[in-house]
Amino acid sequence: KAAAVVGDNAGKTWDAIRAEAMHCTRCDLYKHATRTVFGEGPLDAEILFVGEQPGDQEDLAGHPFVGPAGQVFDSALADAGIDRRRTYVTNAVKHFKFVPRGKRRIHDKPDGGEIAACRWWLQQELTLVKPAVTVALGATAARSLFGKVVTIGALRGSGHRLPDGGEAWVTVHPSFLLRVRDDREAEYERFVADLKAIAARAE
Ligand code: URA
Repeated sequence: KAAAVVGDNAGKTWDAIRAEAMHCTRCDLYKHATRTVFGEGPLDAEILFVGEQPGDQEDLAGHPFVGPAGQVFDSALADAGIDRRRTYVTNAVKHFKFVPRGKRRIHDKPDGGEIAACRWWLQQELTLVKPAVTVALGATAARSLFGKVVTIGALRGSGHRLPDGGEAWVTVHPSFLLRVRDDREAEYERFVADLKAIAARAE
């Protein structure tokens, strides 16, 4: 698999690509973030999850989905019978975008230009891993994967062909489950049901 990367990076290994991404200046987000948070997981993973961007804790730790959203994600994966260690987990945008407020850093949504710039790295991860199913966690990931703005509600619950021919599923972002006020339990169960359907598809 390691030889399948397209374009300038054809033939490079995951380690080499990740090392390059650590010095990425394709958009301005590197200027304020602590580090690039690259994806991680086995390169033979059948499921590849794509989040939005690292949060405050991920930026400090250097690993995706280790903060509050990561805890919801872990819990839902466990309830769906998916072993996270057998999946590849990454983000559409690999630097933390935030607005400083006092000592806190408040999450700021990546824009279309940042998503497009960082697609370069996501596409290479997809080419290396070649998962049976790629999962967009939320609208930013879906936008990156499909190359256009899409509606989660319209795509949720079944597989869709990606422009490059792979199969993608779209579901909510775990942080939505932290924010939602009504029927949080039901929304969580719906997320777990999506994960179970995805696991069955990737078997
Ligand atoms: N939210 C994301 O989309 N990705 C992370 O890695 C953490 C929080």
